[in-house]
Amino acid sequence: IENQLAEGPLTGRRIIVTSGPTHEPIDPVRYIANRSSGAQGTAIARALSMLGAEVVFVTGPADEPRPEGAHVVEVETAKEMKDAVDAALPADAAIFAAAVADWHVDGASDSKIKKQDGKIPSLSFAENPDILASVSQSGKERPALVVGFAAETDDVIENATRKRVRKGCDWIVANDVSPETGIMGGRENAVVLISDAGAEHWPRMEKDAVARQLAERIAAALENN
Ligand code: CTP
Ligand code: CA
Repeated sequence: IENQLAEGPLTGRRIIVTSGPTHEPIDPVRYIANRSSGAQGTAIARALSMLGAEVVFVTGPADEPRPEGAHVVEVETAKEMKDAVDAALPADAAIFAAAVADWHVDGASDSKIKKQDGKIPSLSFAENPDILASVSQSGKERPALVVGFAAETDDVIENATRKRVRKGCDWIVANDVSPETGIMGGRENAVVLISDAGAEHWPRMEKDAVARQLAERIAAALENN
């Protein structure tokens, strides 16, 4: 039967997963983006579905094949991603794998910006809503488990540990995305799972394997909930 969910330890659980980059328009033909491929978020959505979860997959523009079994919500901007996540609540867990743009262009143009005799346009920015922080700090609709990601290039553990406390989420999946690691845009990932119990270093493995292990941990955490 089409769309039938697998039976598993997450059967009956509803989980939101954000994934991919966001695009922030400059004008109707131009935007600001980032290098997120959406591969890790897609793999997590797939792994959670395989364990029986009802997954709402909120994704920015990405080339990855859609995770089978998940309910897919396609968005473009950070603001649209926040609205889609809010609309998908309540949920048992929320996993924030998206690389959300930190800023949008303030006063994006409704019409194409044209060249004007060597005059260079300048952009100004305004901060986007922090979706992870707002869900982590929400009251009665807060999911029992909120997981953030932290892609860092320096002081990975210190930055991610501070991020977990500042945002109020339960876990942070941290990784070093310095260019020499080849992780950004690659097939493998090396993550550190940060919780109130400390930092747990996982070996480097395929993103699919990271996703499966994380899904198992999520199932275990929700078991007594
Ligand atoms: N995140 C979010 N909404 C935002 C920014 C980030 O939901 N507007 C989430 C990401 O999906 C990720 C986590 O917050 O799970 C951490 O994102 P990150 O960019 O590392 O954190 P920032 O607070 O934006 O800090 P930085 O200055 O390092 O970018
Ligand atoms: Ca950021």
